[in-house]
Amino acid sequence: MGGNQSVSEEIRPRHIAIIMDGNGRWAQQRNKSRSAGHRAGGRAVRQIIEAAYRLKIPCLTFFAFSSENWQRPQKEVDLLMELFMRALRREINELHDQQVRIRFIGERSDFSRPLQEAMREAENLTLKNDELLVQIAVGYGGRWDITQACRTIAGEVASGQLQADKIDENMLAQKLSFHDAETGMQIPDPDLLIRTGGEKRISNFLLWQMAYTELYFCDTLWPDFNAQGLDQALAWFAGRQRRFGKVLDT
Ligand code: IPE
Ligand code: IPE
Ligand code: MG
Repeated sequence: MGGNQSVSEEIRPRHIAIIMDGNGRWAQQRNKSRSAGHRAGGRAVRQIIEAAYRLKIPCLTFFAFSSENWQRPQKEVDLLMELFMRALRREINELHDQQVRIRFIGERSDFSRPLQEAMREAENLTLKNDELLVQIAVGYGGRWDITQACRTIAGEVASGQLQADKIDENMLAQKLSFHDAETGMQIPDPDLLIRTGGEKRISNFLLWQMAYTELYFCDTLWPDFNAQGLDQALAWFAGRQRRFGKVLDT
């Protein structure tokens, strides 16, 4: 097959999920504090949003803070919270001008009130934007997501609204955090996962939604990841043959 335009359009992911790992090691290599690493990581997020925007990728999901990251030292957790808050305040207007929609997924009730409000405001402000959807997973765990969906479904069964034998995969998916209650639409599963920082694991990210995602791991530490690194991941993705369990016609 020739490398014509239509083919390259087709093999571009609609949704990229990213595990941004390696901020701490990046800082350590430079004799800097872990907080300097997280700050540098924030700058990389901005660059990757820009690059995805230029490439017309419709959806990005960043893993910013996992359910398990709450177990880090309080000082680091506090600093991360402050960085989230500042980044939101600093970037939200420009993102809004670019027609970027922001959506948070994860257990929000564990975050401070001001942070919860800032998240809600960012979502409300950018709700109608349709150039690029940026989801930020905070306080997120794949197990949390599936558990909260089960809790909702169990509640509906207990109250008699739902019969247990009507529960199927589609229904469960609609209770997970990729169900967009604002639009009633389902956010597509990621086509591509990128994990920086050299570890080859999922770390409780999108367990349900990554059933058929292509997994790309690179050694680059997150603060060093840039548009060129994204291009490399996309080139790798373009060479994958996705079968979804079927046999492809040849
Ligand atoms: C990823 O970088 C950022 C968060 C998990 C918040 P790390 O902080 O995990 O960096 P390493 O893995 O220690 O290098
Ligand atoms: C995964 O990184 C979570 C985020 C990037 C937010 P971790 O650094 O927490 O993962 P582990 O501990 O190496 O599995
Ligand atoms: Mg890490």
